[in-house]
Amino acid sequence: MILTTTFLCFCLASAINYFRTRRQRSYIKNLGGPFTWPLLGAMHKLLFLKPQNFFQRSHAYLVKYGSVTRLWVFHRLFMPLADLELAKQVLQSEQHLETGYELMHHWLAGGVLMCEKEQWAQRHSLIRGIFEKGNMLPLTELCRQQAVLLQLKLADRAEQREVFNAWEIVAPAVRDLMVQTTCGLRPSEEYAKAFNGLTEIYRKRFLSLQSVNRFSFWISSPLMRRKQLKLIKRLNAEHKEHIERFRKQQKQEEQLKAGNLSLDHIEPLPPQWHQSLLEVLLAPNHTPIISDDDICAELNTCNYLGYLLCSSALCFALVTIARHPAVQQRCLEELRKAQRPDQSWDVQRLTYLEAVLMETLRLYPPQVIVGRQLSEDMPYSECNSFLFLFLFQSLTAHSVVGDGTLPFGAEIYVNLFEMQRDEERYLHASHFRAERFLESPPELLSFSMGPRCCPARQFSMVMLKTLLAPIISSFELLPHGDAPRLDLRLALGSSNGFQLALTPRFQ
Ligand code: HEM
Repeated sequence: MILTTTFLCFCLASAINYFRTRRQRSYIKNLGGPFTWPLLGAMHKLLFLKPQNFFQRSHAYLVKYGSVTRLWVFHRLFMPLADLELAKQVLQSEQHLETGYELMHHWLAGGVLMCEKEQWAQRHSLIRGIFEKGNMLPLTELCRQQAVLLQLKLADRAEQREVFNAWEIVAPAVRDLMVQTTCGLRPSEEYAKAFNGLTEIYRKRFLSLQSVNRFSFWISSPLMRRKQLKLIKRLNAEHKEHIERFRKQQKQEEQLKAGNLSLDHIEPLPPQWHQSLLEVLLAPNHTPIISDDDICAELNTCNYLGYLLCSSALCFALVTIARHPAVQQRCLEELRKAQRPDQSWDVQRLTYLEAVLMETLRLYPPQVIVGRQLSEDMPYSECNSFLFLFLFQSLTAHSVVGDGTLPFGAEIYVNLFEMQRDEERYLHASHFRAERFLESPPELLSFSMGPRCCPARQFSMVMLKTLLAPIISSFELLPHGDAPRLDLRLALGSSNGFQLALTPRFQ
């Protein structure tokens, strides 16, 4: 009796699911993909996906099913994509901007990644604004100060002459730098602890089945969920204190201008040379006005992205340079030539180091996948492929699937990692060849493209160069320890850490 009822329920649910997704199915008939079971879809493909096997499995999947595919799980249509031509049409579209960051909802809802469509343009341009010309000089100075602290920490490790995990030293330095950039102040110890705890929870949750959505997380991991909410509250409490302090200062300045207050009644804010994101978000002239909760979400978004992505990029750069002595030597020569009398560097002149970073980002894009959730149908065509051929003069460009439509509701996952290792587009794609970015630079996709691409691209490059320059010139990076074993826990990482050894250079 129980079995029969279960079977009938299953059949009914499958039939409902089939009719519900009929329209989407009709649009993607031309695409290949794994076998779809009634109701469950291709659940078996995701069931055993783990951070450690993500790259082997996703590569095998692409080889088997192609670079534009469909993968059903219940009523959800996932579309893993590693075809540059179609990826460009998706990412460059002005209409299809939703990203769908369900996992991070509690922490980031209301920020640029998850805000309403109507608010997105304002938020994106405000963030981009803090990295514009006038602010870049003071931000570079901030990076330089952080580089000195990082160098001191690394000097301790160099003295010990042992292999260590670079992430443990690099990530806290990048975190503090990001918080200073966004909030204008160094994080308190408690803030730093809460931030680390929270990112670790989210990294654990990533690709784990029990926390695939908010409901399953609530049911399966109530304690972890409680801790997560507590840590978010802790971070936002500190953000709100900063907001209060800035508001008070703004009010006092207005009163001062109106002549209702004298200078000695003003409580000075801690010294800061750059314009922080918080200041920009608190400016009184925004329409619509940004709520305090959204300001917190914006600070959280930038801190989270900047911390994880830049830490990953810097760690991969360090271990890669250590494993390529000729590259290290050429960086060192460039740094010696470009050093100023005050021992700093004009990072604009470090063209080879920039190429090294770009090649690192090509092979190890910190954000491996860029997502788009379609809220309306998206027609695609072969026309762009001719434009593509014309623009890039690449005979290998092709339209894999011809004309068609990606249906409303599809969740598209563009695989930057695979696209940037495509042998047909990048000569000796799996080899580290920084020169390719000096000769005729290929397109770097690691910051994505189109209207939603990373607003901090230029700043990230400046930050990475500023942090790397003193490390390479003060220490010899040694290829000791094991090579990184790639894994994916929110950002690209290594399951065995970033093993490195240093020895001081005597100049
Ligand atoms: C090496 C460092 C970095 C890399 C490789 C990187 C890469 C990316 C990528 C791939 C995206 C997704 C774009 C899309 O959905 O199409 C993105 C978005 C974003 N990044 Fe970065 N990023 C880096 C550093 C930073 C830093 C330092 C910040 C700090 C402010 C930042 C802030 C953002 C924001 C706010 C977005 C969302 C933009 C939007 O959705 O409108 N990123 N980044």
